[in-house]
Amino acid sequence: MTQRTLVLLKPDTVRRGLIGEVIGRIERKAGWTISALELRSLSQETLEAHYGEHKGKPFYEPLVDFMSSGPVVALVVEGERVIEGVRQLAGPTDPIAAAPGSIRGDFGSIVRENLIHASDSEESAARELKLFFPDFA
Ligand code: PPS
Repeated sequence: MTQRTLVLLKPDTVRRGLIGEVIGRIERKAGWTISALELRSLSQETLEAHYGEHKGKPFYEPLVDFMSSGPVVALVVEGERVIEGVRQLAGPTDPIAAAPGSIRGDFGSIVRENLIHASDSEESAARELKLFFPDFA
């Protein structure tokens, strides 16, 4: 099942010089392709649209503040079962609960700075890809 997903390397990944490390793990997966990639700063409008479903939750403001604290790398990744697969590579939201070998398990320790976002379903991927890469066919 070939799919496309949106991946964001969060500001901590960029600041800590881990872009290559994280992208390398994605690139090494057989048959997966990076079909778009851009370093960019996210506007409040984009962040509100992207994280709108979490508005009102206690982590919403810290999350949006953090995601605007520096540039992110936005990528489109495509390939076999890539939506589930990138989330598996990332590990669970809380890096301390994430297994060694996963991106969050290897490099994270606090929930807010958990290195990577990846779409969690086909519906989310379609919505997020349209928001971040509207011109991407
Ligand atoms: S939920 O309520 O289960 O849907 O939330 P969850 O999927 O775990 O997280 C949704 C996004 O919020 C981020 N998050 C946080 N950011 C900052 N601080 C805290 N405490 C926090 N808790 C959760 C989490 O990383 C998710 O963002 P993305 O970009 O998808 O990783």
